[in-house]
Amino acid sequence: MKKLAIIGTGYVGLVTGVCLAHVGYHVTCIDIDLGRIKKLSNGQCPIYEPELEKLMKLNMEKGNLEFTSTLTSGIQEAEAIFIAVGTPQRTDGSAELKFIQKAVFDIGMTIRHDLTVIVKSTVPVGTCDMVKRTFETLQPSRQIHVVSNPEFLREGSAINDMFYGDRIVIGADHREASIMAEAIYAPFSVPIFCTDVRTAELIKYSSNAFLATKISFINEISTICDKLGANIEDVAMGMGMDKRIGEQFLKAGIGYGGSCFPKDTQALVQMADQLNEDFHLLKSVIQVNQKQRGVLVEKAVERFGSLKGKRVAVLGLSFKPDTDDLRESPALTIIDKLLAEEADVVAFDPAAQYHTINTLKIPRAETIETALKEADLAMIVTEWKEFVNLPLSTFKRWMKSPVIFDGRNCYPITNARNEGIEYHSIGRASTFSTPMNNKDFAIKE
Ligand code: UGA
Repeated sequence: MKKLAIIGTGYVGLVTGVCLAHVGYHVTCIDIDLGRIKKLSNGQCPIYEPELEKLMKLNMEKGNLEFTSTLTSGIQEAEAIFIAVGTPQRTDGSAELKFIQKAVFDIGMTIRHDLTVIVKSTVPVGTCDMVKRTFETLQPSRQIHVVSNPEFLREGSAINDMFYGDRIVIGADHREASIMAEAIYAPFSVPIFCTDVRTAELIKYSSNAFLATKISFINEISTICDKLGANIEDVAMGMGMDKRIGEQFLKAGIGYGGSCFPKDTQALVQMADQLNEDFHLLKSVIQVNQKQRGVLVEKAVERFGSLKGKRVAVLGLSFKPDTDDLRESPALTIIDKLLAEEADVVAFDPAAQYHTINTLKIPRAETIETALKEADLAMIVTEWKEFVNLPLSTFKRWMKSPVIFDGRNCYPITNARNEGIEYHSIGRASTFSTPMNNKDFAIKE
């Protein structure tokens, strides 16, 4: 059985490690965080990801998967080492590489055999070349190939993406290294695209930047829909039917969040800046996203005049459903804005990490009902199925007045209208007033 090692048991490292073990490799996952390794060794998954814990335990029982905090033992005999450590955002927007550098240094000081190092962390273009130079200095007599292998996993569907993704990108400057990486991924039957190292690094940033661009684009269109009385869902569907455009990532909402799009778009702008290139388009995408996070509160202020003392039930905190991740979640901006308006805020989320909520100093509701009880208005921030499947009559039953501001367009307008609920959503007519017939925009004859 081929032996693989993975450094970093964060989102990417853990999912990759578990899936590689599942297809039959012997995988050792390494992390300097002792607490995390202890948890993992006890079969407890530290992140919320559908199917991950089940698959993890199964492969631990099979003897394919183990966890250690000791790099020296973890990488022994490994034919390939994956680096999947974090590259957090620096204050200037660029990617922090100190964890990569440490991992590379530790490997370089420890390794006693030739091998391939596969960089999965999202890293600025040129990083793999830097990694290669470090190995050449630390281990001049060894053959250590460096491969760029960016990941395209989405939180909440990462296991599925690993097995059925659209593509695996392998960037290598050495045929032997490319063949090695291709062979590792052969059991996944996902198309493999091979290129050089720098191109692979750039594919990752370009992919995330393009998806973010689609989202900001549709969000701007949704504002125009609001003003014209057009329907954003139909606009997106009508556009998406054109295969050149595609239907995905055209869901208008309250802006993208998470640990990837916000960070990677900033990093790409920063990369361009360093090349004396002004990435106008991407800068606008980021600006639009910031603005979009304020849309729900703006709509509420416009409706009520003031939110002072109003009880607001925030439904959903994670940046998207099926994850407990609050990083860069639009919910955080929305809550800050509500508190600045002196609203009385309570939040409910089926999975989000509540310790972060406590730092926001807002009460946490244990159930949807306690959040909605006596609320003057509700804001839907994450499209958890718990909210999408909630009968609209529930809002009427529990709230002081059933006024909903839905940042994710969870319900058909007609259902809200039939239920007699005041319902404001994104880029769609509200049930509060008739669809706007903007006279200023009347076609001039
Ligand atoms: C994203 C990419 O989709 C993955 O391919 C990539 O591997 C990953 O970043 C990464 O770089 O690690 P993720 O951040 O997990 O994955 O989440 P997405 O499903 O892409 O959603 C990102 C944000 O965009 C969410 O806040 C979501 O609500 C928002 N979104 C997405 C929209 O507002 N509209 C859409 O149509 C789609």
